Amino acid sequence: MQNILRFPKVSSTNDYIFSLKGDELFKHGLVVFADYQTNGRGQRGNYWESEKGKNLIMSMLIEPRLLVKSQFDINKIVCLAIVESLSSLGFDSKIKWPNDIMIGQKKVGGILIQNMISNNIILFSVIGIGLNVNQSVFNKYSPKATSFILEKEQEFNLLDIQQIVLSMLNKRLKMLFSEGKDKDDYLNLLFKKDQNVRFKSKSKIFNGVIRGVESSGLLLVEVEGVIKQYNSKEIKMLF
Ligand code: BTN
Repeated sequence: MQNILRFPKVSSTNDYIFSLKGDELFKHGLVVFADYQTNGRGQRGNYWESEKGKNLIMSMLIEPRLLVKSQFDINKIVCLAIVESLSSLGFDSKIKWPNDIMIGQKKVGGILIQNMISNNIILFSVIGIGLNVNQSVFNKYSPKATSFILEKEQEFNLLDIQQIVLSMLNKRLKMLFSEGKDKDDYLNLLFKKDQNVRFKSKSKIFNGVIRGVESSGLLLVEVEGVIKQYNSKEIKMLF
């Protein structure tokens, strides 16, 4: 039995799960859904915008017991679960490395995975997912935000979306330990793969062709005929 908690309002579903550490609920499979977050967290310390009751806001606690060097495997399965969920709803989406979910050139969802590590092993991961469903007005972002309602001009039932994403996530999590199975799936869905893209690093703007993702999650970019590796803090894709 999977423990599923629902709240009208929390600071952040990821933070809420961490606050349960030491509680008997704090175990593999715990899921928290919320209608609204007062301090929704995004990647790189950003705020995650989500209008009250309009979108999917969820976190799941897992106990992966994976080596830290394999931490990107968690990213992959979560991205794939979301793309599959979207596909079952009629959306064609792609994964913008490392873990933005894109419809066309716009971002429809984001993932924030926070790990608790001991002795080089990931003991706990909190997988936070935000998917824009029925929100139609957003602040300005780069890349721009979109949502289901903006793409299809119809409202979606949030409970259905929660159920779909949760079941895809559970399915993919089961595959987490079957080596290599989802590797190609992730690459096949990689946004702008084999295309010339403009990147910004601390020191310059440059062009490169995305060739893949290394097993620890570094992006492989061909720059002037040479394959270089970057982490997500080093470069930003420009649109
Ligand atoms: C991103 O910046 O793309 C990641 C966004 C992740 C947002 C989700 S919403 C549910 C969970 N709780 C949070 O505070 N953040 C994640």
